[in-house]
Amino acid sequence: MELLFFVLVTILFWSIRELINYQVRASRLDFPTLWAIPFIGNFQLLQLVLSKQPLEDHQKIIEKFPNYFKCWFLNFRFLCPHSPEAVRKILKSEECLSRPVFAKIMFSGFSGDSYHEWINKRKFMNQIFYPSSLKNSIKAISAAADDFTCDLSKEINEGKEFDIYPSIARWTIKVHCLFLLGLDDNSINGIIERLDRLINIRNNITHFLILPQLSKLIMPSKFTAMENAKTDLINFTKSLFYNQKTNENATKFEKNYSKILHRDDFAQQIISMMDAGYETVALNLTNVLLFLSKHQKIQEKIYEEIQGIKDEISLESLSKFELIERVIKETLRIAPPLPYLPREVHKTFELEPGKFVEKGTIILIPNYGVHRLNSVYGDEADKFNPDNFLKENLSKRPISSSFQFSHGKRMCIGHRYAMIVMKIFLIKLIKNYKFESDENDLKFTAKVTLEVEGSKTIKAYLR
Ligand code: HEM
Repeated sequence: MELLFFVLVTILFWSIRELINYQVRASRLDFPTLWAIPFIGNFQLLQLVLSKQPLEDHQKIIEKFPNYFKCWFLNFRFLCPHSPEAVRKILKSEECLSRPVFAKIMFSGFSGDSYHEWINKRKFMNQIFYPSSLKNSIKAISAAADDFTCDLSKEINEGKEFDIYPSIARWTIKVHCLFLLGLDDNSINGIIERLDRLINIRNNITHFLILPQLSKLIMPSKFTAMENAKTDLINFTKSLFYNQKTNENATKFEKNYSKILHRDDFAQQIISMMDAGYETVALNLTNVLLFLSKHQKIQEKIYEEIQGIKDEISLESLSKFELIERVIKETLRIAPPLPYLPREVHKTFELEPGKFVEKGTIILIPNYGVHRLNSVYGDEADKFNPDNFLKENLSKRPISSSFQFSHGKRMCIGHRYAMIVMKIFLIKLIKNYKFESDENDLKFTAKVTLEVEGSKTIKAYLR
């Protein structure tokens, strides 16, 4: 009996000590914060997690602080920077290259890895995007875009509104399958079906992912379903890839990569890129078309730009499509497909003289919010204006006032490839079609990715 009493008292004291430690560690970050309840933290964080309009709510908080604010809940410490200078320093720092636990749960492969697991895989995967590979892929991407424009003519019913997203999503996967796996058309249905299932499950629990340990306890079945969907996708990709012995590209990939990465690991890394490059590209292409449908003058100028450049599409000629590039960048500014960037500090570092960010702190960078700062973009920050990316206007703004593909060593691995894919697609499409829309205002909602609220319907006419 006495022994039991002793054990209980020890556990009680140990728990209190741990709780105090949590509180001290969580609140120690020397940065401005919202009001907090001792031992628990900022309830606003939970409010944000559960909010139906997290983007707007976050924007209101941003306006209260000049550069950044911290928040914490139980033992989770967050730093949310939003001034371009603080964002740049964090993205460029060597100490913020890890991802928080929830990223590992959400994504497969190196996208969600912590620093030490990530570093070598990333070095290795960078090879896929070497300029020579990109150059060699242009012909295949152009041919796929030609097929798309041809197929679209069967789908459009001139003058009738239709949702263009599903066909763009399908095309995006087709191109990624070709480029990343050397796989052909027959494989894409299985990949799309599985990726969509994973994305649906993930989107349904997005807001709960920020505190994964807690959420896993409350809704274990949803987390198991997500894990199963991931495994199914990886196994399916593995089987496709290694069964395609006759496919020249697949054999080349196998030869190159199986020497360095284990088969299972390779499939995971490829899925990581399919996942990261699927919605981002498909949503942005759809958003570009939605914006152009409302801005007919800009659409016509792009058409003229396309008519004016007669060269065959190549890496060099793509750089001449200057307006298309600005339109893509402006769309990514107003509607960044990833509205928040999650990082974790893997080594304590000094953000400003005397202000240290401790190891283990989760950094949440609100791209959407930074890209629409009135202090940087003026009163028309929310307005679509590709002139924001004219050289003379770029030089007036801090570098990290827009970071479509992020900065530093952990920036988007597929940024050059993504720009090539998007440019080729738009060149081919706008050369053949004119787009219009009845929608007046585009509003966005945040899940893991940023999506247009309501329908993504437009009208398309053959030119
Ligand atoms: C419009 C298209 C795209 C946008 C806007 C975009 C944006 C981003 C951003 C903002 C990040 C986070 C970087 C960070 O934490 O600092 C990222 C990461 C990543 N992106 Fe992209 N991306 C796009 C397309 C692609 C494509 C096409 C691929 C691959 C085929 C890809 C693969 C990845 C991967 C693997 C990561 C994780 C990198 C790492 O953790 O090392 N992305 N992307």
